[in-house]
Amino acid sequence: MRTAICPGSFDPVTLGHVDIITRASRMFDHVIAAVMVNTDKKESFTIDERVELLKKSLTGLENVEVVAFDGLLAQYAKDRNAIAIVKGLRAVSDFEYEFQMALTNKKLNHDLETVFFTTSAKNLYLSSSVVKKIAYFGGDISDFVPEKIHEEIKKRLYKEE
Ligand code: PNS
Repeated sequence: MRTAICPGSFDPVTLGHVDIITRASRMFDHVIAAVMVNTDKKESFTIDERVELLKKSLTGLENVEVVAFDGLLAQYAKDRNAIAIVKGLRAVSDFEYEFQMALTNKKLNHDLETVFFTTSAKNLYLSSSVVKKIAYFGGDISDFVPEKIHEEIKKRLYKEE
């Protein structure tokens, strides 16, 4: 059983995340989409909200499990017998940070590989923070987040709510 973890803040989940997790689910037997804490970021959604939004976005992917974990990714991977972390890379600007994370996680857990998937071209510019900015001003986010959750995100983030 080859297990991979797709970790992230998912604050909120975007179509870019769904694309990476879907592709990982074709490559590994079991994929854990782990909603985690990024201490460098201020979150807009609670961890429970992020888990719910992610679950709603991933229905139909039978080998994907959604979890919340407030701890070290390298340790969690060990606990779950995961062999890889899968992350999406958009632009060169992502690389330095992701490279540092990959090396740190390797140092903490020698058995763990980090695998990068190149983003699909249509999601190149997409990020959770872009989604939040558009939703705050009441803009249309329907091309950026799964259809099932876009109203929920708009309602939650619109500045007059
Ligand atoms: O979607 P993000 O914000 O780029 O995801 C980053 C995340 C949550 C995967 C990263 O911050 C993380 O792994 N957090 C858990 C704590 C940890 O293990 N940090 C890295 C070692 S310093």
